[in-house]
Amino acid sequence: MSPSHTHDAIILGAGAAGMMATAVAGRQGRRVLLADHADAPGKKILISGGGRCNFTNLRAGPDNYLSANPHFARSALARYTAADFLDLVESYGIAWHEKTLGQLFCDGSAKQIVAMLLDQCAHGGVELSLGHAAGEIGHADGLFTLSLGARAVRAPKLVIATGGPSIPKMGATGFAYDVARRFGLKVVEPRPALVPLTLGGDEALFRDLSGVATEVVASAGHGRFREAALFTHRGLSGPAILQISSYWRHGEDVTIDFLPDRDTGWLAAEKRARPKASVRSVLGQALPDRLADALAERLGLAGNLADQSDKALAAAEARLAGWAFLPNGTEGFAKAEVTIGGVATDGLSQKTMEARKVPGLHFIGEGVDVTGWLGGYNFQWAWASGVACGEAL
Ligand code: FDA
Repeated sequence: MSPSHTHDAIILGAGAAGMMATAVAGRQGRRVLLADHADAPGKKILISGGGRCNFTNLRAGPDNYLSANPHFARSALARYTAADFLDLVESYGIAWHEKTLGQLFCDGSAKQIVAMLLDQCAHGGVELSLGHAAGEIGHADGLFTLSLGARAVRAPKLVIATGGPSIPKMGATGFAYDVARRFGLKVVEPRPALVPLTLGGDEALFRDLSGVATEVVASAGHGRFREAALFTHRGLSGPAILQISSYWRHGEDVTIDFLPDRDTGWLAAEKRARPKASVRSVLGQALPDRLADALAERLGLAGNLADQSDKALAAAEARLAGWAFLPNGTEGFAKAEVTIGGVATDGLSQKTMEARKVPGLHFIGEGVDVTGWLGGYNFQWAWASGVACGEAL
């Protein structure tokens, strides 16, 4: 290390991506400073997955991510896979289980994942600075300079791993975007994602169903997810809705199939089999009772099946299989699990995450315009982009 440097690399943000990049670079003998303005590292890891951290997804591949350039994440995800992270977890004896859809959680606590990453960093002799916000970043003669509290630090490599602005009360910021713009990189409009949607106007009546959940197929844009949807006192949530929120744009519908397991003609067949059954009770076979009641009422289907024409039943079925909600918004960054958009990938190397125009400056993790589905995909991107960057430091 040249005497003009205080470190080989400064990594800002001791979250998932920052700790991973630090550990990898430290292991390669780099002298790394990992700095965070929070008083403890990995706070989002600690609250993730209900405290058990859904740390990866066995199915993670480029198709599970949204980005203006869908190919960008391919290289990093292929070089550091879910199986690689699982090997690391197992090497620490951390017990885990697959919950559903390839989602891996700790049996015990997310604290084990943070402890593991900190131990990995310690192996590399990394220096950790907590509780100091980074001052203005200078860049001259190939060296990045910044202050952390009263201390000035300098390094030829600077990694921005400060995440996105979702859940600001946890210390989340748009710092990565400010740095990107300051160095002439583009930022894809950041929006809240994996976030509940709100209903207003006529649809506000659905809020009376708060607490009711059912399995649906939710669609918006190019997204389509079969999982549970949940009515809330503000609108719609549950995994299917959180997933689809990443694809939804203001002014567009979200389409819900409330009958994913019923064939076309189901109601007409029921009418022939049980003409005296009430429409509500038949819908109640496929849906929670409160939801069946509300939907039957909205469809104007009172009385028995025999009272309805086959045409009316077919029309009702079609509406139930493609119910269009027009959300009036989302619950915003305060409730969003992630931020979609971020530092534009066309300015970054997909191999090293380094800014093409600013040698030595890297962006990793959620701050980059790569956003995963719900279910461990976002951590997998944090690990993979962290490793890609760490190896290049
Ligand atoms: P991350 O947010 O982890 O870290 C950024 C760090 O930078 C923070 O420590 C922050 O304090 C610091 N920082 C910010 N601004 C700074 C500044 N100006 N100066 C210095 N430091 C600064 N994903 C998943 O795959 N499985 C899951 O189970 C969950 N669960 C989940 C639950 C909840 C409630 C939330 C909010 C999010 C999740 N996620 C998730 C998403 C996941 O937490 C997220 O994608 C990763 O933490 C992103 O990792 P990063 O390292 O990019 O940012």
